[in-house]
Amino acid sequence: MVIKMDRMNEIIDLINKANYEYYVLDNPTLTDQEYDRYMQELIKIESLHPEWVRDDSPTKRVGNEVISEFKKIVHEKPMLSLSNVFNEEEVRSFDEKIKKEVTPNYVCELKIDGLSVSLLYKSGKLVRGATRGDGVTGEDITHNVKTIKTIPLVLSKPLDIEVRGEIYMSKKSFNKLNEIRKANGEELLANPRNAAAGSVRQLDSKIAASRNLDCFIYHLPNPEDFGIKTHYESLQFMKDLGFNINPNIELVENINQVLKYIHKWTKKRDTLPYEIDGIVIKTNDFAQQAKLGFTSKYPKWATAYKFPALEVLTKLKDIIFTVGRTGQVTPNAVLEPVRLMGSVISRATLHNEDYVLSKHIKIGDIVSIRKAGDVIPEVVSVKKERRNGTEIAFKMTDTCPICHTKLEKKDTAYYCVNDQCDKKKIENLIHFVSRDAMYIEGFGERIVEDFYNMGYLKSILDFYELYKYKEELMELEGFGSKSINNLLDSIENSKNNSLERLLFGLGIRYVGSKTAKILAKYYHNIDNLMQANYEELLNIKDIGEAIAKSVVEYFSSNQEIIEKLKGYGLNMTYLGQTNVNEEFNNKTFVLTGTLSSITRNEAKEKIEELGGNVSGSVSPKTSIVIVGENPGSKYNNAIKLGIPIWHEEEFLDKIKK
Ligand code: IVH
Repeated sequence: MVIKMDRMNEIIDLINKANYEYYVLDNPTLTDQEYDRYMQELIKIESLHPEWVRDDSPTKRVGNEVISEFKKIVHEKPMLSLSNVFNEEEVRSFDEKIKKEVTPNYVCELKIDGLSVSLLYKSGKLVRGATRGDGVTGEDITHNVKTIKTIPLVLSKPLDIEVRGEIYMSKKSFNKLNEIRKANGEELLANPRNAAAGSVRQLDSKIAASRNLDCFIYHLPNPEDFGIKTHYESLQFMKDLGFNINPNIELVENINQVLKYIHKWTKKRDTLPYEIDGIVIKTNDFAQQAKLGFTSKYPKWATAYKFPALEVLTKLKDIIFTVGRTGQVTPNAVLEPVRLMGSVISRATLHNEDYVLSKHIKIGDIVSIRKAGDVIPEVVSVKKERRNGTEIAFKMTDTCPICHTKLEKKDTAYYCVNDQCDKKKIENLIHFVSRDAMYIEGFGERIVEDFYNMGYLKSILDFYELYKYKEELMELEGFGSKSINNLLDSIENSKNNSLERLLFGLGIRYVGSKTAKILAKYYHNIDNLMQANYEELLNIKDIGEAIAKSVVEYFSSNQEIIEKLKGYGLNMTYLGQTNVNEEFNNKTFVLTGTLSSITRNEAKEKIEELGGNVSGSVSPKTSIVIVGENPGSKYNNAIKLGIPIWHEEEFLDKIKK
């Protein structure tokens, strides 16, 4: 009999050791067959002698325990969570605050995306595992914790100790689990964290046992009991007891090294076999931690840098319509506010009717949003599985939400065609003062809108008449003499802007800031541009048919505005760097024959850079014809029309100058 009990103890120690080597050290020491044989032998002895069964027996891990309810437990020390920081500036300011009190070293750790757990050991034996709960009261999940192979049932020393860490599910186990669920027609789990949390909140431990959960330990609440002075030492201490400690933890000396660690893991996080959602930064020295203390919720000696969420889920509460500068009416999602890449988002674009319909977006849906091009948030997809039947179908409006004019459809977009629509006018004014346009500082969207509504601003011309109402404006609530003087100064300064800012600010259809610059550089002043015809514009690199048409149309019907702006003293010339050369500027060139040392395209680019433009055929308007070897009929035409001719060498000389 005694021999059998010895044998049982021997097997338990053997299997527990093998488990530790396999799961924690990632170093298998038994074959699967050996492992199974020992297990079968142990099960047999235990079934014959249930009174012998030890708490740390590996048979406890197989998940044969079912509880009827979760017992509440009260944590001896509250399980706090961490404050969050979202960018480098906030990381540095965390450091600044700490340095006011102490001179720290920091421990950098991966922030494992799972759920925190408290593990209690008596005389080295696992006696309780508990969830964090609300931090003060958690739930007893011992039966499930025992199924997690990286949590030792027995420690290498018979200590009374509590440790805390994170239970998580690896990406691989998560994917496998979802594959099985899919095959069984079950609902898929959203992410490994939810999967892990769902697994430990099961009354039947068979489920947790089947889920391949894992655990990293990262916190020792009572280090003084063991004479340990720093967090980094405590990690080593817990590792020696048999706990699974994350191998990527680093002790660093200053905040720059912390930032390096953050950058490194921001890049490498995808290579990890488990998910992390940030980096935890902890002051290393326990005496320093004690000095820094706690707020009611968080330790002041630690913080969590959260990776920017690229995509987050939130509720789409409503769909509203907005009118843009061009009159385009766009559906927009009104969202339950969420943090996305460092800012709180409550609106996202839905682009147009087709977009909403093709994504089957309904009001009331849980949607995934992300920042398009890192700036404008957009709704990416719908979580249809989260619907409860109360969602409302989307319907595109057919009238302008502001002036109620019937909308006109062009391609996929709907437009308010009323030129007197207040919203269109306001948006045009906002565009005029915006950063890439006239950059009239001090005019936020709100002020422009208020001034419009009060009648001070009706068109862009009114900016330059505002000074007349100076006294009146200073009386407005919220404005003093200082702010009005500043506004008027900004307006005055805007008169000195280079031409491209004005061109962009005018809001000519298809003329973005880049095109505005091309035009300004090419034509140098607005008079040249106003005289340009469609063909000439088309000849300019990067100017296509739509732009050329739009520019010609704009200037044929807006001469009065330009004249008035001139009258206010606005600069109408390009002030940026130019290579403009007198011999090329504003002249039209025609190329004929083969150039030996430069390609046609290179020659064209060079001419344009120097202020000229290139045309395909010779006419009385042609300024100069450049002639290479074997010229064609263009050469004869040039002679007939008496147009000056440059041979290749002469041309090369001039561009070299
Ligand atoms: S330390 C008093 N370290 O993040 C310090 N927490 O947002 C307690 N977490 O509740 C936490 N990895 O669930 C710490 N290396 C790590 C962590 C970590 C993940 C979780 C933990 C905590 C939450 C705070």
